[in-house]
Amino acid sequence: MDNILNEALVEGIKVSNGGSVATYIPELAKGDPKDVGFAMMDLEGNLFTRGEYLKRFTLQSITKVISLLLALEDNGMEEVFRYVHMEPTGDPFNSIMSFEVKNPEKPFNPMINAGAMVVTSLIKGEGKKEKISRILEFTSLLTGNEKTVYDEKVYLSEKETGDRNRSLAYFMKSTGIMKGNPEETLDLYFMQCSILGNCLDIATIGAVLAGNGIHPVTGERVLKKENARIVKTIMTTCGMYDASGEFAVSCGIPAKSGVGGGILGAVPGRYGIGTFGPTLDRKGNSTAGIRIMEYLSKKLDLSIF
Ligand code: DON
Repeated sequence: MDNILNEALVEGIKVSNGGSVATYIPELAKGDPKDVGFAMMDLEGNLFTRGEYLKRFTLQSITKVISLLLALEDNGMEEVFRYVHMEPTGDPFNSIMSFEVKNPEKPFNPMINAGAMVVTSLIKGEGKKEKISRILEFTSLLTGNEKTVYDEKVYLSEKETGDRNRSLAYFMKSTGIMKGNPEETLDLYFMQCSILGNCLDIATIGAVLAGNGIHPVTGERVLKKENARIVKTIMTTCGMYDASGEFAVSCGIPAKSGVGGGILGAVPGRYGIGTFGPTLDRKGNSTAGIRIMEYLSKKLDLSIF
C-alpha cells in the first residue's frame, strides 16, 4: 500500500504543471502547482495520506454535492427533482445556450451551475444568514470539523465577476423555476463555492457517501441511505462535467470536482478520497487530481464498473 500511495503522489506531481490555474476568478489564480496531495479514508475512519493533504482550498463546485444532500434531506427527492432534472449535459458547467435552447423549463442536473443554484434556493431557512449557517453546519457534520468557514476574499471575487451566474439566475427567474430573490440565491451560491476545506475534509465526505450515510469516524448516521445513493449516482453521471464519461471509463469512481483544484471521490463500500492540485485541464478538472484518482483506481481496483 505504501508504494502505491507514494507512486500516486509522484504521478500527480508529474502532471501538475501541465494545466493552468483558474483565472476567471482572480483569487483562484494564486494557486501553486506544487501543492499536490491526497487523502483516502476507509469506512472505519482509517486514513491514508500523501503530500499537501492538509492544505486548504475553496471547495467550489464540490459544494454542489453538499447543497444537493442538504436540499434532499430538507425536502425529499420528489420535491427537489420538481425543480431540476438528473441528466448529464455534455456541456461546460456554466453553459447558457443548451439550457435555453434544449430544455428551458428546468436545469439539466444539480452539478451544473444553473441546477446548483436552484438546489441552493431550496435549502430551508429564514433568509440568507440562516441558510448559509445551515450549509456551513451541515458541512461540519459531514467533515467532522467543528467550524467550517468560507473565504471572504474568494466570495467577494466571485460576486464581482459572477456575471454568467447572474445571467443564469435571472433567466431562471424569468421562466419561473427559480423562486424567491435571485440576488439572495446568487449570494448564497457564491458563499457556498468559497467554503474552505482540505483533502481530509473531502475524503471524509466521500467516506460518508461510500458508507451509505454512516459517518466513518463517529459511526453515526448523518444522511439518509437513499440520499447518499442518489448523490453518488449523479456524481457518476454528471460530477466531472463534460468529462464525466471519460472519467467513468478511466476511473469508475463517483466523483465531483471544483475549480479550486479539489476532487471528492466516493468508492461505494470502500473509501472516500479527496485529492488536491490547483492546475486544471481545459474542462476545469484538476490535472493532478485526475491522475491520482486514475492511478489509485487502477492499482486498488476501485472502479465500480
Ligand atoms: O460558479 C462558478 O463559477 C464557481 N464558483 C464554481 C465553479 C466550479 O467549481 C466549476 N467546476 N469545476
